[in-house]
Amino acid sequence: MSELLVGQPNIDVDNEAEGESKNVLNRRQFLNITFGAVTGVSAVAIGLPAVHYLNGHTVSASTGKWVEAAQLSALDPQQVNRVTYRIRAKDAWRDIEREGVLYAYSEDSGASYVVLDATCSHLGCVVRWKPAENHFACPCHAGHFTREGAVIDGPAPHALVQLPSRIENDALWVQI
Ligand code: FES
Repeated sequence: MSELLVGQPNIDVDNEAEGESKNVLNRRQFLNITFGAVTGVSAVAIGLPAVHYLNGHTVSASTGKWVEAAQLSALDPQQVNRVTYRIRAKDAWRDIEREGVLYAYSEDSGASYVVLDATCSHLGCVVRWKPAENHFACPCHAGHFTREGAVIDGPAPHALVQLPSRIENDALWVQI
């Protein structure tokens, strides 16, 4: 009888220690899960903009929206015109204002314009028009494109994207 009384506290103490050990394990698991979740969210938060940066610096030509890109008076029909515009666009989960770059040139003295998205088809840098060489050059990996946007050389997989355009109310409208 006395042995049983003496033994009981030992059993209780063991159970408490075991329970505490389970609690410690649960806390560790909780911390591991929390750390994993925070790490995952951080990786997405940092990774998405990084991928986006590498993948493109301008608004990609896929929103389907028509924007007033420029007043006709601001365009020279004898030149390749660099045009910038601003648009609200989705960037992952955010709704932000972004800048896009286009090039517009005319083959009929300004009655209409051919419009190219300036986004390089390789990794999305903005190409630059080189009037002396009569071609576009990409500053990132030396890709070159004709005035019509076709690939001349470099790593770009396809031509610059030509965008639908129209003239309305003395302005050039472009579907981006
Ligand atoms: S991003 Fe234009 S050639 Fe690489």
